Amino acid sequence: MPDIFTPDFSVNRKIRENQKNQKGVVLWFTGLSAAGKTSIANALETLLAKNNNHSYILDGDVIRKGLSSDLSFDKKSREENLRRIRHVAEMFCDAGIITLVTFISPFQSDREKARLLLKSSYVEIYVNTSLEIAEKRDPKGLYKKARNGEIKNFTGIDSPYETPQYSELVLDSSNKSVSECATQVFNYMLQKKYILKVT
Ligand code: ADX
Repeated sequence: MPDIFTPDFSVNRKIRENQKNQKGVVLWFTGLSAAGKTSIANALETLLAKNNNHSYILDGDVIRKGLSSDLSFDKKSREENLRRIRHVAEMFCDAGIITLVTFISPFQSDREKARLLLKSSYVEIYVNTSLEIAEKRDPKGLYKKARNGEIKNFTGIDSPYETPQYSELVLDSSNKSVSECATQVFNYMLQKKYILKVT
């Protein structure tokens, strides 16, 4: 874009990260509907808050009520949804915030675009639950509606979920509790020095 210029702001990411005593990072949770993405992110945020860390959840269901309320669930709409989110996440990350992104993000190509944009700030977390278990949970009754043909393009039913191949973390949310999964991510963040343990 030839006529658009990038402003040179005086307060940068490093300064904001130092203020918060943490690194800005995007934790990109991907998985089927009802896999546990939002519940795990919620439990992780509680751990982070106790450790004095500043985080924010960009959640699929919330974003689709506002920023992406004009979009549906065909491939093009999901691509546009995730294009918006990766750019919003980039800004949150630049703000020095631990940014938890909880979207089904079913296509490898969209996850790869987020990885390319965010580079080493992108941490992909595959919340792995079988379709059978997700469908049994069905907390919103959407699998039932999809099976009855009341909703179209439902991930896992008549729209694909491409299993991630390169995730930094895989959470076995069929066999582990929400709290165990959240602790696994929290420990990873300590190990990678995105955060420091407050004693
Ligand atoms: S994504 O594919 O574009 O990443 P996103 O995470 O924003 O999806 O939205 C998923 C949420 O929308 C689900 O948690 C579910 O509550 C709701 N939803 C409604 N219709 C569908 C559908 N056809 N496929 C998947 N999720 C749907």
